[in-house]
Amino acid sequence: MNFKLTEEQQAVKDAARDFAQSELLEGVIERDTEQRFPAQQVRQMGELGFMSMMVDPKYGGGGMDTISYVLAMEEISKIDASASVSMSVNNSLVCWGLEKFGSEEQKQKYLPRLCSGEAIGAFCLSEPEAGSDATSQVTEAIDKGDHYLLNGTKNWITNGNSASIYLVIAQTDREKGHRGINCLIVEKGMEGFVVGKKEDKLGIRGSDTHMLSFTDVKVPKENRVGEDGFGFKFAMGTLNGGRIGIAAQALGIAAGAYELALKYSKERKTFGKPISEHQAIAFKLADMATKIEAARHLVYKAAWLKDEGEDYSEASAMAKLYASEVAMDVTVEAVQVHGGYGYVKEYHVERLMRDAKITQIYEGTSEIQKIVISRSILKD
Ligand code: CAA
Repeated sequence: MNFKLTEEQQAVKDAARDFAQSELLEGVIERDTEQRFPAQQVRQMGELGFMSMMVDPKYGGGGMDTISYVLAMEEISKIDASASVSMSVNNSLVCWGLEKFGSEEQKQKYLPRLCSGEAIGAFCLSEPEAGSDATSQVTEAIDKGDHYLLNGTKNWITNGNSASIYLVIAQTDREKGHRGINCLIVEKGMEGFVVGKKEDKLGIRGSDTHMLSFTDVKVPKENRVGEDGFGFKFAMGTLNGGRIGIAAQALGIAAGAYELALKYSKERKTFGKPISEHQAIAFKLADMATKIEAARHLVYKAAWLKDEGEDYSEASAMAKLYASEVAMDVTVEAVQVHGGYGYVKEYHVERLMRDAKITQIYEGTSEIQKIVISRSILKD
């Protein structure tokens, strides 16, 4: 067992940290307040290769391992979780899903744009009446011979407006249950596809989360990903990897808040000494550091299993479940360490606390992760 990063992995981590400090930190509070998507920064992330880290270089990707990806996700999430969720969806759900399950034509058509930063992708599964219960979709993709006729509504879609390539999961044959679902590639500009209302959120306010509606959208047959009826398996398969990305995001949010609390505790003095020298604060920092390290091991382990070609669905659910709990616990404590200063925007930790909450909800709530884990451990 080797816990040491390779030189390449360390270089990726350092590059992501430098990028986050130099390009994302400035303006992060304003973007949060104004709910402004970091469009220019995400474009730069594409140009630098952060949006397609694991894609084969022949399609324009970085050809890196999943460990490198989680290292970069962690560093970027320490500063701006709104940018990192865009990165996570593009890497783990859209690029990975297309590269793993798409046809050669689809890969050649879409991946280079998604890799270069020219285009951003979105993954459209959730619906007003079907969040956790992903088979109960209302959105329909009716087979019309050479095309599907797509009708329905998707909501809480990350990159909803900024994306131009959308993977839309829809029912083709309701009788067949989860085997009657398809995944279709929909492009912005297709007739009948409208980007709807933007959500006003508690956290990750810089990410553009939208409702999408599809009215008689004609999607060519060649835009279906995989065989007829493969859409649910496509969604579940991609979400297994997506959960590693969100676990890394949660880890980064926790680690970012901890680093701020640690620094503040050494600077802020009360009763004649830095607050870090009061045991009440020192013990909080010890708990935070321990929880973060435990989460980090689960996240890296899930990424490592994926790189080894092993089954990682249970490990990714465990990593997301635990890292998101740690993100909540640690950010709340980071606000507490900062006292009154923690409650105002300038010190960043209140934003990290608000951002942490979504990691317990998207890509499957904590309760969904427990379903995945318990089914896995009870199956034999
Ligand atoms: N990996 C691979 N295959 C899986 C799987 C997994 N994790 N979970 C289920 N499957 C397969 C099963 O093996 C089964 O296949 P067979 O019929 O061939 O045996 C098939 O899928 C159906 O499985 P289930 O009967 O277990 O399905 P279910 O209806 O009971 O649902 C669930 C299982 C785990 C609850 C699932 O619905 C789920 O994960 N729900 C949560 C959805 C979710 O995460 N949404 C997030 C939206 S995306 C997002 O948030 C992105 C963003 O913006 C950041």
